[in-house]
Amino acid sequence: MFFAASSGTDPMKLAEIPVPYIGKMAIPDRVLLKPGPLTRAEWDIMRQHPVYAYKFISPIKYLRPAIDIPYCHHEKVDGTCYPRGLAGKDIPFAAQIFAVVDVWDALTSNRPYRKAWSKNRTSHYIQKRVGRHFVPKVVEAFLDIDPLGSWSSLPEV
Ligand SMILES: [Fe+2]
Repeated sequence: MFFAASSGTDPMKLAEIPVPYIGKMAIPDRVLLKPGPLTRAEWDIMRQHPVYAYKFISPIKYLRPAIDIPYCHHEKVDGTCYPRGLAGKDIPFAAQIFAVVDVWDALTSNRPYRKAWSKNRTSHYIQKRVGRHFVPKVVEAFLDIDPLGSWSSLPEV
């Protein structure tokens, strides 16, 4: 809410931003919307979005239960990622789940700097990172679910 007030954003608009992406509100458009690969300095800026999410959400009581997702979704099982270098079971379970979903969504979506990957390529990518980036049981469950049969009916991109 502080950011909304200081940036001129209508605080009610915050309710329309998915919680996992709220920290990206603080990332400059020149970085967030850059049509090419980020420089090291730009990655340093981008890697702050979970910290901004923590700062934005922690004062809001009704969003606090969801804070693990935006704050910890870039942590990796092997402890090599950000913002805190958490590893294994220290990564909150909700963030372990969202990490897989987020990578799936990112890779199967068009970006300014690349076309969306196919489901098969994305599935292979995620499976190759089990135990380093992702928790095995989470990946297994994620790839097993298809409750509406919608994945198989999605067009390959
Ligand atoms: Fe993120």
